[in-house]
Amino acid sequence: MTKNPDLRTNAALSLDAYWMPFTANRQFKQAPRMLARAEGMHYWTPEGRKILDGIAGLWCVNAGHARPRIVQAIQQQAAEMDFAPPFNMGHPKAFELARRLIEIAPAGMSKVFYTNSGSESVETALKMAIAYHRARGDGSRTRLIGRERGYHGVNFGGISVGGIVANRKMFGTLLAGVDHIRHTHDLARNAFSRGVPEYGAELADDLERLVALHDASTIAAVIVEPVAGSTGVLLPPKGYLQRLRDICDRHGILLIFDEVITGFGRLGSPFAGQHFGVTPDLMVVAKGLTNGSVPMGAVFANQHIHDAFMSGPEHLIEFFHGYTYSAHPLACAAALGTLDTYAEEGLLTRGATMAPYFEDALHSLKGAPNVIDVRNIGLVGGIELDPIPGQPGKRAFDAFLHCWERGALIRTTGDTIALSPPLIIEKEHIDELVGIVAGALKATP
Ligand SMILES: Cc1ncc(COP(=O)(O)O)c(C=O)c1O
Repeated sequence: MTKNPDLRTNAALSLDAYWMPFTANRQFKQAPRMLARAEGMHYWTPEGRKILDGIAGLWCVNAGHARPRIVQAIQQQAAEMDFAPPFNMGHPKAFELARRLIEIAPAGMSKVFYTNSGSESVETALKMAIAYHRARGDGSRTRLIGRERGYHGVNFGGISVGGIVANRKMFGTLLAGVDHIRHTHDLARNAFSRGVPEYGAELADDLERLVALHDASTIAAVIVEPVAGSTGVLLPPKGYLQRLRDICDRHGILLIFDEVITGFGRLGSPFAGQHFGVTPDLMVVAKGLTNGSVPMGAVFANQHIHDAFMSGPEHLIEFFHGYTYSAHPLACAAALGTLDTYAEEGLLTRGATMAPYFEDALHSLKGAPNVIDVRNIGLVGGIELDPIPGQPGKRAFDAFLHCWERGALIRTTGDTIALSPPLIIEKEHIDELVGIVAGALKATP
């Protein structure tokens, strides 16, 4: 038997044991990028190097890091009650949080179901949609429609309705009965648009094509991200989401908005539904719900969805679904502290105030080496680069490494650089962030 190695002194081995998610493990372990502390707009490395956070952790730390109300709420809750079973039992903060959430949600979204992540929220919403139709006696509506290039987390339902090839191709045949409408990315017509692009509302009509193919009576729901983030910041063309809503209504199909990234102020409104004036039937959130501090997700349901389940004997469970950690007390406390922070600092609408400055800064990158598009909305930016022939993703990844060395954390997906800073960002941070990105584009031709 080998002797247990001392992990405190054997740094190489201690890196070895952790199989990292969505990471080039071998590359990382040759030159690890470690974070040790965070506050406000910044991270610090273990050596004390200060890093400007250009992506709110991972699109989630909307109020910035280590905010006192959130820290205190978690600390107090951990001491008061660590866990409470969520099945057939409750605790006050779970109810208080749901009440607070529906106050800021789009009109009509009046019920909240808790999960622990965006992926779980997606699965929950898909199951809710299918079960809803069955509960009202329309059990043939089982088909789920996603969109090419969509990202809906990594569980089987989410990757089935998702449309990112790398996330799907290794995992077999996925869920049956899923189809996809076309994505809306159109560089030829829309490159360098400021805000939502002009062209492409008609792409929503692709749903009519699938209705013609499958018949509406077999379709339960359509799920889209109002603004697709992880696939490279793809914005909905003007009028597109309303058109999708109208087609869903015409055919009795539920519309699910995956607001895991757009929720909690990212676009300058509490949710994208309000920003675009389009209300879904189900809304999926996570990330900014607790400011990234404790894992938590949720599904918001329209009243009529919920009510369809409320039949049968009252002592019986209406929806056979839930997680051990649904409504976890620490997560609920963190979310309440987060909502307080958002409200006190006006963060759910601050993105709208900062958006014009952010937009100008991003679009100053037009003309920088290899930039083929710049996209922006609220405090989200996408800078698409021309791929190096035969090495997709490499150019953007090199820019990411360069930014890290120069003190900024950015994110790349394919050859698109995505920026989504904390909503507390100031103009000088925007200048610094975009300046570092500009430097990286010059340095990594
Ligand atoms: C739109 C969208 N849906 C779902 C998810 C999955 O969330 P999680 O990683 O918390 O499971 C993400 C994560 O980035 C997302 O962007």
